[in-house]
Amino acid sequence: MKIKDALKEQNGSYILEKLLNKDKAWLFLNDNLEVPKEYFEIQNKIKSGYPIEYIFEEVWFYGDKFYIKEGVLIPRDDTEIVVERAIKLINEKCKMKNEKCKVIDCCTGSGVIAIEIAKHTNAKVTATDISEKALEVARKNAKLHGVGIEFKKCDLFREKADILVANPPYVENFWQKPNEYEPDIAFFGGEDGLDIVREIIKKAVKFEIKNIILEIGYSQKKSLSEFLNQFECKYEFFNDLGGRVRGVEILFG
Ligand SMILES: C[S@@+](CC[C@H](N)C(=O)[O-])C[C@H]1O[C@@H](n2cnc3c(N)ncnc32)[C@H](O)[C@@H]1O
Repeated sequence: MKIKDALKEQNGSYILEKLLNKDKAWLFLNDNLEVPKEYFEIQNKIKSGYPIEYIFEEVWFYGDKFYIKEGVLIPRDDTEIVVERAIKLINEKCKMKNEKCKVIDCCTGSGVIAIEIAKHTNAKVTATDISEKALEVARKNAKLHGVGIEFKKCDLFREKADILVANPPYVENFWQKPNEYEPDIAFFGGEDGLDIVREIIKKAVKFEIKNIILEIGYSQKKSLSEFLNQFECKYEFFNDLGGRVRGVEILFG
């Protein structure tokens, strides 16, 4: 197959740029050359359901490149709206404090939320996950981006903070994962998907954390409102660009 034909295929340009270590312009200028045989192996792997992000061990999030590897959730664009909201809230709150704001990114996975917060605010960031594999990737990403984050392996979190941010597992157990290579533990949150979300909120109350921002699923607004109504708090759901509910911001006290 010639480069010019591969360029018409899905992911063709990206795969060739990576394999040949050349840019798009070079590919167009040399589009009569044959593609290397590895090109077909990679396309077949992707067609069999293996995520392209794991093949090249990279993923883009919030305009930045991150390291990723099999067994750790691939960050999704949907989460960028949570990051945006968190950065805005943290910068507002931090302005009012003399000392640094303390932020926890619970369920950090590859660390993308914690790292973007560390890059765009002057908060002191702690990131937690129960998976050692995720923390390994997150630590590597923090190093790549030159930010100081305290990583902790634990069940949810175990300390006080000014603001808690999380993209926890919130998928209903009956759903099928998008592929078999990302871990179950990153997706499933019980029958209605909200088991871990509820735990996070209860724990935040215990540690007197006043501000929480959580990513949630499209259909969880009603059940989560019912749960939140038992606490003395204000809350506001926020939507993605398509108008679907993607998260909730909660204020206690
Ligand atoms: C949906 S992923 C989010 C990853 C990352 N924050 C992102 O947005 O791409 C959820 C993460 O929660 C972690 N996790 C699941 N249960 C946990 C628990 N009880 N305590 C801490 N982390 C947990 C998983 O290992 C996974 O990395």
